[in-house]
Amino acid sequence: MSAIRFNTILAVESSCDETAVAVCSGGKILSNMIASQHVHAVWGGVVPEIAAREHLRALMPTFLEALKQSKLTIDQINAFAYTNEPGLVGCLLVGQCFCEALSVAYDKPLVSVNHTRAHVFSNFIDEPYPDFPFLCMSVSGGHTQIILTESPHTFTVVGQTVDDAAGEAFDKIGKMIGLPYPAGKSVDELAQTGNPDAFRFPHPKVAGFDFSFSGLKTAVLYFLQDQSKRQPQFIQQYRADICASVRKVIIDILMNTFARAQQRYPEATIGICGGVGANTLLRREFEQFARDRGKYPFMPPAQYCTDNAAMVATMAYWQYARPSCPS
Ligand code: KG4
Ligand code: ZN
Repeated sequence: MSAIRFNTILAVESSCDETAVAVCSGGKILSNMIASQHVHAVWGGVVPEIAAREHLRALMPTFLEALKQSKLTIDQINAFAYTNEPGLVGCLLVGQCFCEALSVAYDKPLVSVNHTRAHVFSNFIDEPYPDFPFLCMSVSGGHTQIILTESPHTFTVVGQTVDDAAGEAFDKIGKMIGLPYPAGKSVDELAQTGNPDAFRFPHPKVAGFDFSFSGLKTAVLYFLQDQSKRQPQFIQQYRADICASVRKVIIDILMNTFARAQQRYPEATIGICGGVGANTLLRREFEQFARDRGKYPFMPPAQYCTDNAAMVATMAYWQYARPSCPS
């Protein structure tokens, strides 16, 4: 909690492979720039050292463009915000050092925000805003959590993955069938024309409201190896059916676990966020789930699901600027 108050925030997000800068004033996003690092595709995953160097290269031009598009001058910015955790350490440090330098040079406050919580606040970028308590499933390439947010400063992790993240499962299984990194969106697209009941994969048994995806990944790997031995063209021939079946089981795992958590907190508003929040099946299923319970389905537009700095600026705004926020 803090007694600090400021209205216009410039935020930097650099936790993984997007270099992002946004300006938020009075809770409204004035600019939102993202430089995505496509360089990792050839490696089949993010290479931390390369990612950190790419942030160094991209951050200054992204910052200048975000400031220009906001139509503000640096003097009109009241504070700087950055993502401090979780993420790739070298990448986080680039954003932190950049914002620390701005803070010292312009003598303005500096705040840090947690990345998974910032994803939750992607649901607060545009109205309508969720009321608190807000039960939100934050599903990305690096994390999978159900978070109960009771105020902009009060968070409880109700459940989380015990191994891989859901997006990681999409990416790794996509890689097995020859899709470029990050594969989640391509799996989602290919799944549209496939049969979700073509192949059955196991659901993990996990206690409480936690998730597990590594068993599914291994099961799909063995299944593909086995089928390809008998039929070398298996993957090419059944790619859409594999995608549809994998997408179904991942979304079932997410929704079943979220449904159990929701029963525990029936009064809370509900939402999803994070890169996998852009998944078209998850969005459909979540919307139906909410409607069946007479609730509004909070989910950010796809551009705010994947990593961005608008969510970082918005979280900082709700924590330190919004008139009703606790101090
Ligand atoms: O939130 P995000 O940009 O970065 C992290 O914080 O990890 O999420 C990226 C993840 C990747 O694993 C990507 O494959 C996945 O989100 N993703 C999707 C879709 N769009 C992005 N997964 C499934 N369906 C999608 N449409
Ligand atoms: Zn993220």
